[in-house]
Amino acid sequence: MVDGGRSLLGIRGESLAWLRGILERALDLPMLQTGEMPVPPGAGSVLTGRTIATLFFEDSTRTRTSFTLAGRRLGAEVVDLSTGSSSLSKGETVVDTARTLAAMGVDAMVVRSSLAGTPGVIARSVPGVAVINAGDGRHEHPTQALGDALTIAEALGRESFDFSGLRVAIVGDVGASRVARSNVALLTGLGASVVCAGPPGLVPRTLEGLGCEVCWSMDEALDGVDVVMMLRIQFERQASGRGAIASARAYRGGYGLTADRAGGLGDSVVVMHPGPVNRGVEIDAAVADGERSLILRQVGNGVRVRMAVLEACLEH
Ligand code: CP
Repeated sequence: MVDGGRSLLGIRGESLAWLRGILERALDLPMLQTGEMPVPPGAGSVLTGRTIATLFFEDSTRTRTSFTLAGRRLGAEVVDLSTGSSSLSKGETVVDTARTLAAMGVDAMVVRSSLAGTPGVIARSVPGVAVINAGDGRHEHPTQALGDALTIAEALGRESFDFSGLRVAIVGDVGASRVARSNVALLTGLGASVVCAGPPGLVPRTLEGLGCEVCWSMDEALDGVDVVMMLRIQFERQASGRGAIASARAYRGGYGLTADRAGGLGDSVVVMHPGPVNRGVEIDAAVADGERSLILRQVGNGVRVRMAVLEACLEH
């Protein structure tokens, strides 16, 4: 390592000023389109000579790919380590894996795990290496929330990142959602009010402790909102929520953002979803692909915000 890196393990407990700085930097970075230069002028050499390892112990399309592209666009070397192709499959612990990579001079590790707290455990075992949480169990997904805040700011003309007066509904499997936890922390920190909605088995009253409202009626949740963020039912994390929904069809009827429901929203209301999307369950295809949808914008902003995060963690 050239200098010690700074880790990003979650939104909660992190400095709001530092997070705002990341958002402001991301706003300055271009959204690249197919066929454009992979390295924007002025950004390509920032991390030249630095090495980033992506350690994904759980599947990902958006987060892993966007971190890889972000690192490469900043001039870093990016190496990927998957569970199936590493010595983890032979019983090596994640801590030994991380120490092994650190011994090779890796500067940053981007970590996804189904176990909450894994990025923190790794950060403590490799001091000086920047560890970035790419989603850990039900705990946090900070870079998703940063990309979502950037998307809201641009879509609603709040590029100062002052979200006072904005009302955001997060609907679905909130109890199991690391995206929701990070978004509640960041959006309320920026001044928005957040209501979490869904069936009681998926949206327990205890979520109020995060600083949001809890609502079990879709009609109430959508009343007066500026942003509707739909979440996927995480069947892989349903231990506590098993039985909370009778069927996908019943769930769509009670809490899905159907074309009918979306049609009743005010003209300026925008729709988001972190993906992957279960079309026809939590959101109708016509809404996911419709004019209000920011879903692909969220994906594109994921690269910009991860470039800004890598800069902030490695160049602080
Ligand atoms: N939103 C999100 O984290 O997507 P991936 O699981 O594809 O990374």
